[in-house]
Amino acid sequence: MKDLFGTALLDYYNGNFTEDIVTSTNISEEDELPLTYLFRDYQDMSKLEQKALQLTTGKVLDVGCGAGSHSLHLQDKGLEVKAIDVSKGAVEVTQKRGVNNVTLISVLDETETFDTILLMMNGTGIFQELAKTPNYLKHLKTLLNPGGQILIDSTDIKYMYEDDDGGFWQDLHANYYGELDYLLSYKGESEILTTWLYLDFETLATSCVSVGLQCELVMEGDHYDYLARIF
Ligand SMILES: C[S@@+](CC[C@H](N)C(=O)[O-])C[C@H]1O[C@@H](n2cnc3c(N)ncnc32)[C@H](O)[C@@H]1O
Repeated sequence: MKDLFGTALLDYYNGNFTEDIVTSTNISEEDELPLTYLFRDYQDMSKLEQKALQLTTGKVLDVGCGAGSHSLHLQDKGLEVKAIDVSKGAVEVTQKRGVNNVTLISVLDETETFDTILLMMNGTGIFQELAKTPNYLKHLKTLLNPGGQILIDSTDIKYMYEDDDGGFWQDLHANYYGELDYLLSYKGESEILTTWLYLDFETLATSCVSVGLQCELVMEGDHYDYLARIF
């Protein structure tokens, strides 16, 4: 993996910002991902993220920490936080920003237990495919202390398939409509990322039930996005 995402985070952190990351998917055109957004503080987070941080208690695992924005806020509040990411650059930036406990590891290799597991900025993306979702959820369940919770956000992207007259054009024989292939470009280089999964709430809730977890809708956002609590 080239880790263009991590390289961009490091450039931004080190004051070498010249351009934002550009992403595109198999169903959408190029779109800029502003690097400044990944370094957001509490005031600049969405209502869903702020709500998730308010609900976070106890020992915390921040899965896919990126630049560590959520971890930093929680650590500043006095919570014990472990931040993990598979991007070397993301881990380095999160450490340099002051998060004490940061590890380069996939969530599937995590073995400690926690009171709150946080997956933010389309947290279901990490599950990659609908078919893999029960496995990820089963593993996350093993990382929960008694009474623990998973706080996760996602978006129902059905709207992306809507045509001008209000119909939907998705191929009924294709995989689940929230599975997107992402291409990430930065400073003249490109990298194909693994499939990134957007899950509508009902489908997430059904997957949770299939592995013996309960899932409740905490809050809906402004654009088909939502925050869920799994326990
Ligand atoms: C969209 S970014 C979100 C970053 C951060 N949570 C935020 O809200 O700013 C997703 C992050 O998940 C990380 N990631 C992807 N798969 C992962 C896995 N299996 N385990 C841990 N982190 C993962 C990526 O490297 C990336 O940093």
